[in-house]
Amino acid sequence: MRKKSTSTSSFGASEKVTHDARRFYARKFIASYAAAYNFTTADVSEVSLPFTLRNQIFCKSAVHMEEIPDNSIHLMVTSPPYNVGKEYDEDRSFGEYRRFLGQVWKEVYRVLVPGGRACINLANLGRKPYIPLHAFVIQDMLELGFLMRGEIIWVKEGGGASSTAWGSWMSAKNPIIRDEHEYILIFSKGTY
Ligand SMILES: C[S@@+](CC[C@H](N)C(=O)[O-])C[C@H]1O[C@@H](n2cnc3c(N)ncnc32)[C@H](O)[C@@H]1O
Repeated sequence: MRKKSTSTSSFGASEKVTHDARRFYARKFIASYAAAYNFTTADVSEVSLPFTLRNQIFCKSAVHMEEIPDNSIHLMVTSPPYNVGKEYDEDRSFGEYRRFLGQVWKEVYRVLVPGGRACINLANLGRKPYIPLHAFVIQDMLELGFLMRGEIIWVKEGGGASSTAWGSWMSAKNPIIRDEHEYILIFSKGTY
């Protein structure tokens, strides 16, 4: 049987078929994004993690991971502190918090092998204001040179139940949606 093939349509493809995406990738939209955010590390090679460092837990801040050599880790998964007053949180301003996470992302970039993955579990915070934290973290990761590979929406227990505040009774003029999900943002270093 002959395999069906498609090229990118204005509505995307509705079924899994071989796909000629050349027209899509030839668009200025893609090339200009790639020029700004498509960092590659083709010249970097992977380093084998020394045996003595395997299966070790370092009880310290991830801001400094000097024990770990450059280009030696395949996967980083984190759920960072949210800076909302939990036992382990410090009271950082928004800028300080972003810089703190940025220091960790920089270390993560250093230790990952080319093509290594970084997975960041985050929720957006607050109502007034609502802080779209994931958008800032994506921006910071792209600026450090990570390639974004996708995001997983983690629908929390209770997702799908109505969780909306409508304003005053009989006057639904200020509907507010409560998030019932978190994000797991997926990045890689340097290569696809
Ligand atoms: C949102 S919680 C994640 C909890 C984790 N998913 C678990 O189930 O244990 C954030 C964690 O980050 C840790 N943490 C806070 N500051 C840190 C830092 N500078 N470096 C590494 N971990 C840190 C906290 O101790 C806390 O365990």
